[in-house]
Amino acid sequence: MVKIAPSLLACDCSRLGEEVKSVCDAGADYLHIDVMDGKFVNNISFGFPIISSLRDKTHIKFDVHLMIEEPIRYTERFAAAGADIITVHAEACSNIEATLASIKKCGAVPGLSVKPGTSAEDIFPYLDMCGLILVMTVEPGYGGQALIPYTLDKIKIIRRELDERRCDALLEADGGINSVNAAQVISAGADILVAGSAVFKAADRAAAISALRQA
Ligand code: DX5
Ligand code: ZN
Repeated sequence: MVKIAPSLLACDCSRLGEEVKSVCDAGADYLHIDVMDGKFVNNISFGFPIISSLRDKTHIKFDVHLMIEEPIRYTERFAAAGADIITVHAEACSNIEATLASIKKCGAVPGLSVKPGTSAEDIFPYLDMCGLILVMTVEPGYGGQALIPYTLDKIKIIRRELDERRCDALLEADGGINSVNAAQVISAGADILVAGSAVFKAADRAAAISALRQA
C-alpha cells in the first residue's frame, strides 16, 4: 500500500503544532518538511527551530527535503533537530557520495532527489547508498503547482532500476499530486506520495489521505 507524506508547506503556519497533529490523526505515514535556502530555489521556508520544536509533539517520521546548496554543511544539524529521513538534491551537491555518507553517519536515512530536468541515469551511481529516492514532479520551490507529466517516465525508469538491483530504497514522488493523478503516480512505481495542497487544503483531511492511498 502506498504511503502518504503531507507537506507542511501547505499548512497554516500560525497553528503549526495543531496542523501537524491534524494530519497525524488523519492517517499520514510521514510528515514531509521542505527546507529552502533562497539560493538553490527561489524561496525560503523552514529551518532547525521549526523541526526541533515539533519533534517532541509527535512520533511520526520526519521526511526532511533539503532544497539547499551544499547540504553537507547542515546534515548533522538536521539530524540533531529530529529528521528521520534527510533528502538532498543531486544538483545541489559537489560531492553526492560524501553528502549521503554524512547523513548515514548521523543515523538518518539518506535520500537523493532530482529536479524535473535531471535524468534518472544521473543518479544511478548512488542508488545503493540511498534509503529513499525522491523524484520531483514539479520544479522545486513552491507548493500548489501542476504535476509535470513527463516526470512520470522518470519514476518508471528508477522503479525498474531499483527492482533490477533488488535495492529496497523507497521511491517518493513530490509535487502537484492529487486524487485525480495519484493513480498514475502509483502505477509508475512510487512507494510514497508527497501531498501538500491535496491534504492541507482539503475540508476532510482523513478522507483526502485515504483517497490518495486508494487511488
Ligand atoms: C515543492 C515541495 C513540495 C510541495 C508540494 O518544492 O518540495 O513538497 O510542498 O506541494 P503540493 O502538493 O501542493 O504540490
Ligand atoms: Zn518537498
